[in-house]
Amino acid sequence: MAISAVKGFRDGLGSAARLYSEIETSAIRVLERYGFSQIRLPILERTELFARAIGETTDIVEKEMYTFPDRDGTLLTLRPEGTASAVRAFVEHHLDQTDSVTKLYYSGPIFRHERPQKGRYRQFEQIGAELFGRDDPLADAEVLTCVRDVLDELGLATARIMINSLGDASCRPKYRERLRAWGEEHRAELCPNCVRRIEKNPLRLLDCKEEGCRKLSETAPLLRDSLCEPCASHFAQVRSLLDAMGVVYEVDPRLVRGLDYYERTSFEVTAEGLGSQAAVAGGGRYDGLVARLGGPKIAAIGFAFGLDRLALAVQAARATAEQDAALALVPAVFIASLGADTRADALALARKLRRLGVRVELDGGRSLKSLMRRADRLGAPRVLILGEDEVAVRRGTLRHMTEQRDEKQAVDFDLEGPALLEAVGVAR
Ligand code: HAM
Repeated sequence: MAISAVKGFRDGLGSAARLYSEIETSAIRVLERYGFSQIRLPILERTELFARAIGETTDIVEKEMYTFPDRDGTLLTLRPEGTASAVRAFVEHHLDQTDSVTKLYYSGPIFRHERPQKGRYRQFEQIGAELFGRDDPLADAEVLTCVRDVLDELGLATARIMINSLGDASCRPKYRERLRAWGEEHRAELCPNCVRRIEKNPLRLLDCKEEGCRKLSETAPLLRDSLCEPCASHFAQVRSLLDAMGVVYEVDPRLVRGLDYYERTSFEVTAEGLGSQAAVAGGGRYDGLVARLGGPKIAAIGFAFGLDRLALAVQAARATAEQDAALALVPAVFIASLGADTRADALALARKLRRLGVRVELDGGRSLKSLMRRADRLGAPRVLILGEDEVAVRRGTLRHMTEQRDEKQAVDFDLEGPALLEAVGVAR
């Protein structure tokens, strides 16, 4: 029996593989303009790296990691994201000693044991970027602008950027307690998963997909109202810089991320054409992580695009663009057939012109006025009018739309080839 690929793991063939390369090249071109340079990271790390970086009580660490003991018993994990590895490399190679600011990008496969569906796979790819050494709002604004530029480069103009501030070590613990109290109050109405979250990770109460919990979470306290002054001011400055640059975003006060290392500015990007797995990118500030992984106290911010979802979004955007273009096809000649006696000649003329390579729109069965309105809407430069008078003499009237001028009996029905083209005013 033949052996198939593992569930949630796919092959990339032909045009799909080419699209991935194309997107990756475009994204990297933008990232390099922003000064990010490539780092090639291992796919395998010690399990404790991810547990410590992402958080012991996150879904990723609790149930989605591919973890196994190496031959000597060391627990290893196939990377479920890139940030932890980038930070480990930053610390391990003392990159802060080369320059006060370090900007790295990476791309490649990521592994999460999630339930596979459209846009959600167990092996997927990310293109990520991490900026170390800047804690000022200008860095956040620059990173978000970079995200926007990647989206625009890929033709994803309708993708939406959602931002929020998650506070920091001084204001978030207090908020977490308020949220926990709210959770306790509503314990009986929450799903079993959320009941567990009350104790373990109350922030995730805002991110439950269950309808009941989602409705209820609208009554939950918002972090926005608990931010300390420095966090509130940082967020306000990021927003005003984005406003000044015309980078469009929406503030989503309920946005929380599935990884625990975020502080202050956090964001997600959603695109059209993806169904329920609409997030094509996510990121944010993680000022405490470098120190938590044994490095110096250095601020950082970054993001990762999901390449598989970008590919779906780009495909959807191209299909829409093609549809629009098809709808916007402008006929070179519009033939207006007025009355039953004109139909056969109208059809014959349309066919002769089409065979000569002319885009013809043929319409009839309505008043001249409504046919002209449609010809105008389609942007047809000329309308060949066939009424009873025209059919009687076998010569059609040509209306030049921009000049609003009629040439009576200008087109002999029996013309062929170049003579016909010339008569209707279509150059070959
Ligand atoms: P994340 O939001 O977990 O963030 O993942 C980033 C992107 O990876 C998502 O927006 C999505 O497009 C894609 N993705 C996630 N899971 C799957 C899946 N199962 N199948 C297909 N695509 C998926 C991070 O991983 C952070 N490390 C981002 C970051 C970098 N934050 C700061 N720096």
